[in-house]
Amino acid sequence: MNAPRRPFPGASRATRLARGRQHMPMGVAENYRYWGDDETIFVDTMKGGTITDFDGNTYVDFRLGYGPIILGYRDERVDAAVVQTITEQGTVCGFSGELEVEVIETLKTMCPNIEKLRFANSGTEAVMGAVRVARGFTGRDRIIQVEGGFHGLYDEMMWKSDLEGWDGTGEPAVIPFGKGIPASSRTLSGFVPLNDCDALDRAFEEARGEVAAVVLEPIQGNAGSIASTDAYMAHLKAACERHGALLIMDEVKTGFRVAPGGVQELYGVHADMTTYAKAMGNGYPVAAFGGRADVMDVISFEAGGVVHGGTYTANLIGLSAAAATLKILATTDALATCDRVGAAIQEVLSSVFTKFDLEHQFAGPPAMFGVHLGSHVPTNYRDWKKTQSALYEAFAKNLIRNGLMLEPDSREPWFLCEAHASVDLTWLEEIATRSMADALGR
Ligand SMILES: Cc1ncc(COP(=O)(O)O)c(C=O)c1O
Repeated sequence: MNAPRRPFPGASRATRLARGRQHMPMGVAENYRYWGDDETIFVDTMKGGTITDFDGNTYVDFRLGYGPIILGYRDERVDAAVVQTITEQGTVCGFSGELEVEVIETLKTMCPNIEKLRFANSGTEAVMGAVRVARGFTGRDRIIQVEGGFHGLYDEMMWKSDLEGWDGTGEPAVIPFGKGIPASSRTLSGFVPLNDCDALDRAFEEARGEVAAVVLEPIQGNAGSIASTDAYMAHLKAACERHGALLIMDEVKTGFRVAPGGVQELYGVHADMTTYAKAMGNGYPVAAFGGRADVMDVISFEAGGVVHGGTYTANLIGLSAAAATLKILATTDALATCDRVGAAIQEVLSSVFTKFDLEHQFAGPPAMFGVHLGSHVPTNYRDWKKTQSALYEAFAKNLIRNGLMLEPDSREPWFLCEAHASVDLTWLEEIATRSMADALGR
């Protein structure tokens, strides 16, 4: 992959934003795409590991749309499979076909934690499905969430620990992401910090046998890839069993990325239920939730059964993309390539930070790694607050100006895809050095 050599003016950005504002709140289709009046980016084309904006600027992209791209943009193997399916078979008709079973059979070769599965169209929907099934199975309503995780856009998951407003003492307040989220949607959730076994035990005790499930990202794709320890995972699994609660691992970001079998392969700990999305379809909208057969079989029309469905569930666009993507991930060294390149990039970044005498740490696996400017790897979301996140943000914004796309917030990891195999590490070192020098005012 050649390094981009263009300057990075965004001549058309303001005009495009003004036009968008006539039709959409904030001028964009989703809140997080608004990066300010002058910095909001409008993308024309995507290919491999790069995106190109309407002003002709090409960026090497490590943001990858928050993680769904695992092979590369417009991967011809996946696209051809989708085109063949939708032109020869169709997209959706409200009946079952055979591709759903084929996808699950492939997925089960990668994820032994899955016995039965149902499909969804987004991570949000997959988490909703998993939590509902857990409640249906256990007959309980309460859940425990782990701070720093993100589990989608439905009300109950739209609460977070307010680290921005926290002074580092006592417990951070738990606040909604914004207005429109009813206070009642908070009442069934407890929040605990990652890697704190005592806090987990207390939350179970306080809930007095009413916890249906613990929901967590074992490697926090929304908090700089801060990772559970092996000891915490073992404690969590045992605590769930002891209290009759289900363990739901949200692998929307980690699934089919950090290993073929996701975090559960890395830790050797299986969840009762797991959610998948993102890398599962290399950018096509497809998601799933599943796990133990006895738990999933609560989905039924029987009395006491749980309802799951939706017009676009298991549509052939998403399923054909998942079939092709999973087959590639299961049978090629695509994920090994992501790991290799991710590790090489960390080495380059580390040498640049060292040049500037900056303490730094990497968290998480190389295919989805967090960068933390500080003296130790954060062990939970509260710890992240001790890192130099403002310096990271200035560095990241300079990288963007130099043609490397990433999320400026250090809570969002660097994402790798197979197409990054040819990334130019000399160029990376050059722009990373320049970007950090500028950030430090040197
Ligand atoms: C771990 C996790 N779960 C759930 C979601 C929600 O997925 P979606 O945006 O597809 O609804 C996200 C989105 O980033 C996520 O990172």
